[in-house]
Amino acid sequence: MASITIRNLDESTKQALRERAAQNGRSMEEEARLLLAELEQGSPGLTAGIVEHKSTDYPAIPVAAAGSSSEPPIAGFPAAGKCVLLIISGGIAAYKSLDLIRRLRERGVHVRAVMTAAAQQFITPLSVGALTADKVFTDLFDREDEQDVGHIRLARNCDLIVVAPATADLMAKMANGLANDLASTVLLATNRPVLIAPAMNPAMWSHRATRRNAETLRRDGIHFIGPMAGEMAESGEAGEGRMAEPMQIVERIGELLDTRPKPLRGKRAIVTSGPTHEPIDPVRYIANRSSGKQGHAIAAALAELGAEVILVSGPVSIPDPRDCEVVRVESAREMQRMVEAALPADIAVMVAAVADWRSKGEATEKMKKEGGKGPSHLELTENPDILKGLGHHKQRPGLLIGFAAETEKIVEHAQAKLERKKADWIVANDVSPDSGIGDAGGVMGGDRNRVRILSRDGVEEWPELTKKQVAERLAARICDHLAATTTIA
Ligand code: C5P
Repeated sequence: MASITIRNLDESTKQALRERAAQNGRSMEEEARLLLAELEQGSPGLTAGIVEHKSTDYPAIPVAAAGSSSEPPIAGFPAAGKCVLLIISGGIAAYKSLDLIRRLRERGVHVRAVMTAAAQQFITPLSVGALTADKVFTDLFDREDEQDVGHIRLARNCDLIVVAPATADLMAKMANGLANDLASTVLLATNRPVLIAPAMNPAMWSHRATRRNAETLRRDGIHFIGPMAGEMAESGEAGEGRMAEPMQIVERIGELLDTRPKPLRGKRAIVTSGPTHEPIDPVRYIANRSSGKQGHAIAAALAELGAEVILVSGPVSIPDPRDCEVVRVESAREMQRMVEAALPADIAVMVAAVADWRSKGEATEKMKKEGGKGPSHLELTENPDILKGLGHHKQRPGLLIGFAAETEKIVEHAQAKLERKKADWIVANDVSPDSGIGDAGGVMGGDRNRVRILSRDGVEEWPELTKKQVAERLAARICDHLAATTTIA
């Protein structure tokens, strides 16, 4: 197979490859490998695309390349290749805007900045310009800027305007249509979506005038992030008024500029995740080592493709996935109740490592060790099988997927489960600690997984992947399956 050294490509080709890789959620190396493979199969159009590809055209304003030439951007950010006009107004939180610029650029976003006069009291145009690698705009009446760019083009040659921090003063100007400096003029002249991250003293945020202005801005379609509650930069002050953290703003920008197709829009999915805890007495329980990482990643991947996701999760210590409704449960019986309450659904993926047994009679008081008599006898009874219950349910989900965590005879056991539980697919994985997957300890609690997908059509082997990649691949397979089986009336 042909090979290229990315380091030796000229800057514009490297940038085009970087943007293309970011848009496809791949590394530059992976993207280049795929393109070369396509080329060898005779599709030269694809490489032409490398050089010509531009996700947004900014003909009038040359915007500096996103990211630094030595560091490829973090792949897969939905706003990669897009242009954000960042307006920095004068608040102590302005220092966080510097980090915001870095986080955006490392994700392949072009950032151009406007600073108010007050913002320049907190941070300098020099530091902002060094991070955006572009000119910083500060003056409405700068003859050179006006000839070169002009405030109207500045306001429109971007995909999104972000005001961070947004002071009470700038919000008041926006709400009342004032345009007496470059920032407020750009905001009045723009036809682009606007996201503001308010930051001010809690007394100013809760003042009736600010509440009124915020309400007006919301009605005008301005997007908000924050302010958050917590400590203020001024000593001794706390309350609602902190600017959202740079990464929270980055995520919101990603959501607002996400134009990727949502093939699962209109579909409802139930996902179970994590272990269950089966009480023995008020302080003890039976559980297993499931971390919830795989189930949560699957819920996130389905939501990312537009599905309405209800995640029924046992006790885990990882964060909730974005855009999912999370129902927290403890025991298998509770999980079953909440799963059945979430029906009907188009898709159900039962990833939870449900405890097979529970204690027969849960003790209402803590069980005591009685000196010399040896351990108490624990009588167990079987838990309901949630997956099997769904397989036989009158509201059986259209596509029912189970997991099979096995330590031996993986395919054989998974095949039996497919039949017994009336599932459509079983995702089988080897959870033995010596499976050789990921770090010591194997799949349980780790970040990697190697699975086989069993269906009535046969067995599909997947290579070892991260749990996130397994989730994305499974979500894509679900999409393909639904697209192939949906009949259009
Ligand atoms: O029988 P086994 O526990 O190996 O089956 C695994 C599959 O069945 C997983 O999808 C798991 O979420 C599901 N399951 C369940 N309820 C149980 C036991 C397992 O939904 N009580």
